[in-house]
Amino acid sequence: MQPRPRHLLASADLRVADVSFLLDCAAKLKLRPQRVLEGRQLALLFEKPSLRTRVSFQVAMRHLGGETIYLAPQEVGLGEREAIKDVSRVLSRYVDIVAVRTYGQEIVEEYAEYSGIPTINALTNEEHPCQALADLLTVREKLGDDLRGRSLAFIGDGNNVSASLVVTAASLGMDVRMAAPKGYMLPEPVVSEAAARAAETGGSLTLVVDPAEAVAGAEVLYTDVWTSMGQERESERRRIDFAGYQLNRALVEKAAAGALIMHDLPAHRGEEITEEVFESPHSIIFDQAENRVWAQAAAAAFLLGRADQIED
Ligand code: CP
Ligand code: NVA
Repeated sequence: MQPRPRHLLASADLRVADVSFLLDCAAKLKLRPQRVLEGRQLALLFEKPSLRTRVSFQVAMRHLGGETIYLAPQEVGLGEREAIKDVSRVLSRYVDIVAVRTYGQEIVEEYAEYSGIPTINALTNEEHPCQALADLLTVREKLGDDLRGRSLAFIGDGNNVSASLVVTAASLGMDVRMAAPKGYMLPEPVVSEAAARAAETGGSLTLVVDPAEAVAGAEVLYTDVWTSMGQERESERRRIDFAGYQLNRALVEKAAAGALIMHDLPAHRGEEITEEVFESPHSIIFDQAENRVWAQAAAAAFLLGRADQIED
């Protein structure tokens, strides 16, 4: 019998030690791409649009000597044209690893249950683990490899991007703060996971309603859209509920001088972030986008058991 493949479905699937190891691998690959996935094939099974995740996986696999096949939202009909478990078992016979972008976390979990190959969550409504790895790789590049005690504040919705971010940042011992309106805070299991990791690494997790409280003295400020993909019908309600959670000059002035500005993109200027803050000299937004390549290259190599081949 084949051993069960290793998956990355949620940020919590990586142990604390794995997070640092993966970021070290990503940094090494960025300095010197290495063909550790020669001849390996990655399928991208996407049910939502994407610029960064799709292109960065394709570029990453090419850097590692592998190839990709992209399956667009209209093509497969995951769970509609064909049962999730059948799609999963078929793709497992064709390729070596798959990245799935879909709606509910339960879809990617069911997919992985039947998969004979590693499955990467390329964004669900609940998690975006690849984004968080790229984000922390970027923060390490700016603040140094040891992020213990360094402060990061997320302002906005408690869904995919913030969930993965807080778990991953807590794994590195950061002082993590988050402000969300009532009813939009992270789900309890994510909070417990991040808090447990913070306890293990000497970090901290502070959840508040008031954005000013979260950003006070923070060295890194992060925001994401108020209306995520699939929530378009709620956008009017959300514009009202998130008013006051905009990353603007007044909020940035409460943070540490020169605080880094982060956003996973795409951004809705004038909603969660002002044009001025987005374009500020302290923005590291496009470094985050660039680092998706190296974080995902490392993740793919790790899940395929090739990360120990990565050299300095
Ligand atoms: N940040 C991110 O995942 O971007 P895409 O939706 O364009 O892939
Ligand atoms: N929260 C956003 C992230 C996009 C990368 C969304 O789910 O649409």
